[in-house]
Amino acid sequence: IPVTLGIDIGGTNTAFGLVDRLGNILTESTLPTKVHPTCEEYLRSLNSKIRQIYNDHEKKSGQKMRLIGIGIGAPNANYYRGTIEYAPNLTWPGVVPFVEMMKGYFDVPIVLTNDANAAAVGEMVYGGAKGLKNFVVITLGTGLGSGLVVNGELVYGHDGFAGELGHITVNPDGRHCGCGRKGCLETYVSATGIKRTVYKLLADFNESSELRNVPFNDLTAYMISEAARRGDRVAIEAFEYTGRILGQKLADTVAHTSPEAIFLFGGLAQANELIFYPTQRHMEANLLNIYKNKVKILPSELMDKNAAVLGASALAWKELESEGLLL
Ligand code: BGC
Ligand code: NA
Ligand code: ZN
Repeated sequence: IPVTLGIDIGGTNTAFGLVDRLGNILTESTLPTKVHPTCEEYLRSLNSKIRQIYNDHEKKSGQKMRLIGIGIGAPNANYYRGTIEYAPNLTWPGVVPFVEMMKGYFDVPIVLTNDANAAAVGEMVYGGAKGLKNFVVITLGTGLGSGLVVNGELVYGHDGFAGELGHITVNPDGRHCGCGRKGCLETYVSATGIKRTVYKLLADFNESSELRNVPFNDLTAYMISEAARRGDRVAIEAFEYTGRILGQKLADTVAHTSPEAIFLFGGLAQANELIFYPTQRHMEANLLNIYKNKVKILPSELMDKNAAVLGASALAWKELESEGLLL
């Protein structure tokens, strides 16, 4: 059967899977992204793991697969050029000709897009955005990604980099960002951002907190949400602060694209009402009158699936279709 390969390159982990035409992930796996010092070494491990799950699945299922296309979502990806450029949360410097490098391994059409754009395509094809023509997907992981769909189309812009809301400025004198600038939205609003907020609150106030002695690298967004549910004041305040900044910036986003819904996806979105309530409240409070009570903030319907893997593969199917390569 024909399958496409969907790959989601995250700052921490890479997820990938073989997906059929109906959007079933037949087999999938992950690979840590950061442990590979160079992109060449990363690609070598990734490709041997892909072959491995491919062969294992054929053996196990007795199903013969035919790989006909690859879709990839990555931070700072350029759809037009097939490059990953200056990604703040990856260790590969400069401009990486990722599609070209991948072509050394596979002789099928390969399409690369921003990881949050891939998640938006996944939401549109398989998730809560089915039938919506104007919506935004915000991914809250290591960084903050965004995919903007306007009038039924993903927005790419002049040079292919439209929709990088992680790096709009919240505070020009604020926290250092991996992009080299200061005060970017993702330094506050992301799984990493909320950890930084917890640390800041712990340093500024004497409040007792179960998070006080947790080393930064061990702290997770999940731990902060569990602490908040147990009534930890620092954790609750961290969510309130994060939701306030996100809500304010989403109000700006609404003014740019007038979406019907905004979907939140990723580690931090899994904190549910802890993040949704303050975000919703602060967004509404900051909206221009003409937009009030019209924009829904919703959890991604693909939360426990891999939206970006599905989205990347959906993009590959779309691309094959538009090139007339699907019979
Ligand atoms: C990158 C985006 C990406 C987001 C989520 C940001 O740091 O600049 O391109 O979508 O992280 O991975
Ligand atoms: Na984007
Ligand atoms: Zn930045």
